[in-house]
Amino acid sequence: MESILFAILVSALAFVQGKNCDSLGTLIYEDLGCKAKGGNNNTCPISYDCPQITVKNGTCKFGGTIYKEGNRFNGTNVCMPAVCMSSGIGRMVIDCNQRPEEGCYFANTLDKCCSIDQICDSFDDVEICNVTGRLYLEGEYFTPKGYCLHCICKPNFAGKFVAPFCERIRCGIELTNDPISDKSAPLYLNSPVRCCPIQFIKPTNAIVTHIILSGSSS
Ligand SMILES: *[C@@H]1O[C@H](CO)[C@@H](O)[C@H](O)[C@H]1NC(C)=O
Ligand SMILES: *[C@@H]1O[C@H](CO)[C@@H](O)[C@H](O)[C@H]1NC(C)=O
Ligand SMILES: *[C@@H]1O[C@H](CO)[C@@H](O)[C@H](O)[C@H]1NC(C)=O
Ligand SMILES: *[C@@H]1O[C@H](CO)[C@@H](O)[C@H](O)[C@H]1NC(C)=O
Repeated sequence: MESILFAILVSALAFVQGKNCDSLGTLIYEDLGCKAKGGNNNTCPISYDCPQITVKNGTCKFGGTIYKEGNRFNGTNVCMPAVCMSSGIGRMVIDCNQRPEEGCYFANTLDKCCSIDQICDSFDDVEICNVTGRLYLEGEYFTPKGYCLHCICKPNFAGKFVAPFCERIRCGIELTNDPISDKSAPLYLNSPVRCCPIQFIKPTNAIVTHIILSGSSS
């Protein structure tokens, strides 16, 4: 089963308590459309069931969904819609190239790449979001520390990193890699939060130099 390697990898790490599991590098499983198993509100998942990975010619897989050649779908973010091509997944990059007038700025939203709302001086009616001490204006993006989230300041923000203020980051790893079918291991920077891997290591290239046991701090 293709998901076995991934399951083992996660179970070694999954004993950390707490709902925010982003320190464990679980984001990629969401990205791949895998289903979490064995976790509840207060614990992180023990393993993941990942969807069917074999892709027929003329189809593409993204987020656990199979697309036919010519189908368009949303890629890693709203500024990068994707299209399934015979050679794989192609990406289009939307360049908004918006320059605000003097004394103004463009307020963004999470669901649109380009802003449709220019806000000008004075900013009296503009929401200010206090994100653990740093202030953002309405329509400004922010990334809360310790989470794999992409957020925006908008009215009624109460300091909680939830919808409709925040959404999960997408790594879009299927756009360039097929880590499940070639059983690659994700490689992360050694940082407190592990969102998208910086690279995948194929089993044939892997050399184990140091095994970190679950529960140890190094
Ligand atoms: C998780 O918490 C919600 C509300 O906080 C509750 O309704 C739900 O039953 C809980 N689920 C589990 C699996 O504990
Ligand atoms: C799929 O495409 C590759 C290269 O484009 C080709 O070599 C292969 O024979 C195709 N497989 C099938 C089942 O059509
Ligand atoms: C892409 O996302 C946008 C905004 O969420 C949505 O309106 C659109 O229907 C999506 N497109 C596809 C092809 O799923
Ligand atoms: C923002 O929140 C912090 C607490 O997280 C508080 O100390 C600070 O005074 C707030 N700043 C403003 C301008 O409300």
